[in-house]
Amino acid sequence: MPLRNTSFLDACRGQRPAQTPVWLMRQAGRYLPEYRAIRKKVSFLELCRTPELAAEVTVQPIDRLGVDAAILFSDILVVFDAMGVAVEFNPGPQLPKPVRTTADIAALRWGDPVEEVGYVMDAVRACKRALADRVPLIGFCGAPFTTVSYLIEGGGSRDFLEVKQLMFCEPAAFGRLMANTTQLLARYLIGQIDAGVDAVQIFDSWAGALGPRDYQTHVLPHTIALVEAVRAHTPAGRERVPVILFARGNANTLALTATAPADVIGIDWSIELDDAIEVVGRDRVVQGNLDPGVLLGPPALIRERVRATLEAGAQAKAHVFNLGHGISRFTNPDHAKLMVDAVHEGL
Ligand code: CP3
Repeated sequence: MPLRNTSFLDACRGQRPAQTPVWLMRQAGRYLPEYRAIRKKVSFLELCRTPELAAEVTVQPIDRLGVDAAILFSDILVVFDAMGVAVEFNPGPQLPKPVRTTADIAALRWGDPVEEVGYVMDAVRACKRALADRVPLIGFCGAPFTTVSYLIEGGGSRDFLEVKQLMFCEPAAFGRLMANTTQLLARYLIGQIDAGVDAVQIFDSWAGALGPRDYQTHVLPHTIALVEAVRAHTPAGRERVPVILFARGNANTLALTATAPADVIGIDWSIELDDAIEVVGRDRVVQGNLDPGVLLGPPALIRERVRATLEAGAQAKAHVFNLGHGISRFTNPDHAKLMVDAVHEGL
C-alpha cells in the first residue's frame, strides 16, 4: 500500500509539498505521559528490545501531535550489541568497560548487526505494521565519530579528552576503529532499510567536540563514506531512501558537513536558519532548527518563532521542519502540538 502522507519524503527529495512537513527529534519520550506510563513497567533497554512495545511508543507522537514522520524508537548505542560492548542507561548511557587502549580495540567483536541487533530489524517491521502507511518511518544510527566517542569516553563527556588522546597519540588505530565502525553502521542502516524504513538519519551529536581541521581530517571522510554506502543501496522493488545528516554543535563545521552527499542537512539551533542556508547552499534540502527551549516559552512566542523558521526555510530548496536538537523532557505536549499545527498552517 502506498503511504498516505508523503510530504516528508517529498521534501527530502527536493520537492515543496503543499504543507511543510514536520517531525521532532526525540518525539517519543519522557515529555509524553503515555510514554512514561509504559516506562513505569519496563526499562528503557527492555523497551528497545521488545518490538511490539517499541512500535507502540513510536506511534504515540503520531497520534498525539500529528507529525508527518515517525522515528523508530531505539537508541544509537544498542548497536554495541554487535561489538560485544555492554551499555547501561540510568537514564544517560554508561559503559561499564570503555574502549581506551589498542588492546581494548583489538578485543572488539565485529558481528553482523542485522543478526545481532535483530530486535531493531524486528522493531522496524513492527513499526511499519503499527503505522499502517499513515506516515513514513525514519531509521537511524549514530555517526561514526559519535558512536566511537561513546565507546571511548564510556558515556557523555564535556571535553572529550579520552577521544582526543587516542586520536592524537594513536591516529592509525583511531582511524581503523572509525573505518570498522563505519562499515558496521552501513550494514546496520542498510538492514533497517531492507526491513522497511523509508528514510534514515545519521546523528553526529558530538561533531562539535572538534575544531574544523581535526573534524575534516579524522571524522568527515568516515561520515561521507557512511552516507555514500547507504546511498549506494536501493532496496528491492522500492526507491532509494533519503539520508539525513545531522551534525550538532559547531556552526564552524557546518560548511564541511555540507560537503557530505546527504539528501538533507540537519541544522542545529545554534545558528540562524537563514545563515545556515547561506552556508550549505540554497540548492540543498535542510531540516531544522527551532531551539527546543522555545517550546518552554508561551504559545505566542512559539507561533512567532515557527513563522520565522518557516520564512527562513523558504530560501532552501526544500525544508523539513524540526527542532534544532531533541525535545526536552520538561516540554508541555500541548506546546509541541501547537508547534506542529503552526507549521502546518504555514506562512
Ligand atoms: O527521536 C526519537 O524519538 C527516537 C528515539 C531516540 C532515542 N535516542 C530514545 C531515547 C533517538 C533517535 C536517540 C538518539 C540518541 N541517543 C542520540 C543522538 C541524538 C542526540 O540527542 O544528540 C544520542 C546522543 C543518544 C544517547 C542517549 N540515549 C542519551 C544521551 C540518553 C539520555 C537522554 C536523557 O534525556 O536523559 C539516552 C537515553 C534515551 N534515548 C531516552 C530516550 C527516549 C531516555 C530513556 C528513558 O526513557 O529513560
